[in-house]
Amino acid sequence: MNYTITVLPGDGIGPEVITEAVKVMNAVGEKFGHIFTPQSGPVGGNAIDDFGTPLPEETKDLCENTDAILFGAVGGPKWDDPQAKTRPEDGILAIRKNLGLFANLRPVKIFPQLINSSPVKPHILQDVDMLIIRELTGGLYFAEPKKRWEEDSERKAVDTLLYSEHEIERVVKVAFELAKSRKQHVTSVDKANVLESGRLWREVTIEVSKEYPEIELDHLLVDNASMQLIREPSRFDVIVAENTFGDILTDEASILSGSMGMLPSASLAGTPGSTESSVNLFEPIHGSAPDIAGQGIANPIGTILSMALMLRYSLHLYNEADAVERAVEGVLSEGFRTTDISSDGGEIVATQRMGDLIAGNI
Ligand code: IPM
Ligand code: MN
Repeated sequence: MNYTITVLPGDGIGPEVITEAVKVMNAVGEKFGHIFTPQSGPVGGNAIDDFGTPLPEETKDLCENTDAILFGAVGGPKWDDPQAKTRPEDGILAIRKNLGLFANLRPVKIFPQLINSSPVKPHILQDVDMLIIRELTGGLYFAEPKKRWEEDSERKAVDTLLYSEHEIERVVKVAFELAKSRKQHVTSVDKANVLESGRLWREVTIEVSKEYPEIELDHLLVDNASMQLIREPSRFDVIVAENTFGDILTDEASILSGSMGMLPSASLAGTPGSTESSVNLFEPIHGSAPDIAGQGIANPIGTILSMALMLRYSLHLYNEADAVERAVEGVLSEGFRTTDISSDGGEIVATQRMGDLIAGNI
């Protein structure tokens, strides 16, 4: 089969890790007889520099006319001026919103080979296998009012945590649907003791749960959830949370797997299987890591595993997706490590070499 893949490297380490994911994608193509045609465009800070906008029209078009999007990372100190009219991050936020990618799946899996690389004790990591579903197009990130102004001779600013019933319902449904083929347990995270939006979140979640009597549902306040993630991560199966809570909790959860550089994500417009006609986006959960950009030491595994999710969820190439995940495991078993996951020893390799090894293992 032929597939067109929109590849958006972005800023910082984005281009470095994307290069390796494309390399592995091409290895999959050769092995399984597919042709992946990448089409690339500017996004983020470099697009602001060259086009005055983080999401040029040309890139927007590429996002609409493709089989899937593979995304690197955006942002960096160069564009961090708090007074700036537009920011690199606006590029990815606009793509998510334009394509209606409301469900962000962030699987947290512990590779046994890395169990000693995590700062968390190995016995706590036993049996950890969770899927965090982050609402991605609502809440504090998008709702209005969102502005800054001056009043009573001081500066003020507001963001709005607004959710409509349908926004909660559709993402919670994705959580329940995906729990069916897992451990049949959904944990909904909110701040219902303080936030009105949290109380609505909980109410709607309970209503949705009635359609899924076979799935166990529990609720955790977000502060407690952040503690339980480290104290007893194996208690979780599927977690569903609003946009900001999901953003924060997944950075925390990534440490269970050894490094932020390990975690992939899939941003979907619905439950996998029901999104045939939509364009989905796949990106590592980490950012552009400006501190190590250009050094060739970034961990490309989160991006490579995101590409695997793309094969599975957008292209329905299940064996191919499994092959990528197995190739990653194989390379870890052979003892190869990027610096971020090297605390337990092993042979430290650069970004490029890690990509070569994984591609060679397909
Ligand atoms: C993420 C990132 C983004 C987010 C940034 C880059 C806008 O942190 O994907 O988790 O906050 O959603
Ligand atoms: Mn984040």
